[in-house]
Amino acid sequence: MQQLLVDAVLALFAFSAFIALFFFVLTRGTLLVRALSSRSGGEASHVYPIYSNMRLIKLIDYQFIISAILLFQYHRLVRKIVSGLGQLDLENKTVLITSCAFGNVIPEIVKAALQAGAARILVTDIIKNELIHAEDKLGDVGGKVEFIEEDATAMRLEDGAVDVNIVFFLLHELPHHLKQPTLHEASRLLAPGGKLFLAEFHRPDSRVLRMFSWAYFKVFEPYGLALWDTHDPLDYLLSMDGWSGERYTCFNGNFQVISATRS
Ligand SMILES: C[S@@+](CC[C@H](N)C(=O)[O-])C[C@H]1O[C@@H](n2cnc3c(N)ncnc32)[C@H](O)[C@@H]1O
Repeated sequence: MQQLLVDAVLALFAFSAFIALFFFVLTRGTLLVRALSSRSGGEASHVYPIYSNMRLIKLIDYQFIISAILLFQYHRLVRKIVSGLGQLDLENKTVLITSCAFGNVIPEIVKAALQAGAARILVTDIIKNELIHAEDKLGDVGGKVEFIEEDATAMRLEDGAVDVNIVFFLLHELPHHLKQPTLHEASRLLAPGGKLFLAEFHRPDSRVLRMFSWAYFKVFEPYGLALWDTHDPLDYLLSMDGWSGERYTCFNGNFQVISATRS
């Protein structure tokens, strides 16, 4: 019996180590190798292989896995954005999703935007495979959406082109020097009165969670920690003229959804 318990603990440890190594290799590990090699990869060099390789995208994009990565708060965050959209009159309005994300966030947002009367829905991403995958997930509704290859830090859309912009867990993956240009672009694209919904990690309230979260970012997501302080997105938006906004946090402050309006 005791031996069985030891075996079970060892098996669990080996499995966890394998999962951690798998994600490390496909995220931070690749960035480290890229930094050491001479191939820069251009403006998408910070994008992990799990977002660019179609096989990996399909291997990982399961709702349970994605929810687990966000400590099972994924639905709560999506619900917050969807209910925000539900309160808007989007008749003849344009909704933009800046960069794709795993899970059902895109289908849920598209459904809510259509229900609220949106005339145009745009989904952009720097990686073509992500756009193809997002379109697949939308099924028939995909026909009502425009998929555009765009770099969130330098969008080709015109000033004030959209009425709502949704940025879901993009900032923590961007090197620090790209975070503010992304927010600046998000601001530039919004028409007066337009609304930005931004979901991200946030500094946890409890010391224990902060410790675990800190270790997670140090190992897997080196660009995420700055959102806790030096690159707080709400601080940056409010520092620009004509912005008001509020922050909703959940899971002991570990996640945030910012709803901000450009006057
Ligand atoms: C928004 S994050 C989603 C991460 C999150 N963990 C999830 O899936 O729920 C990843 C997406 O951002 C995209 N991306 C990264 N850098 C970008 C950039 N500069 N412009 C547009 N999209 C970008 C990646 O291609 C990928 O599709």
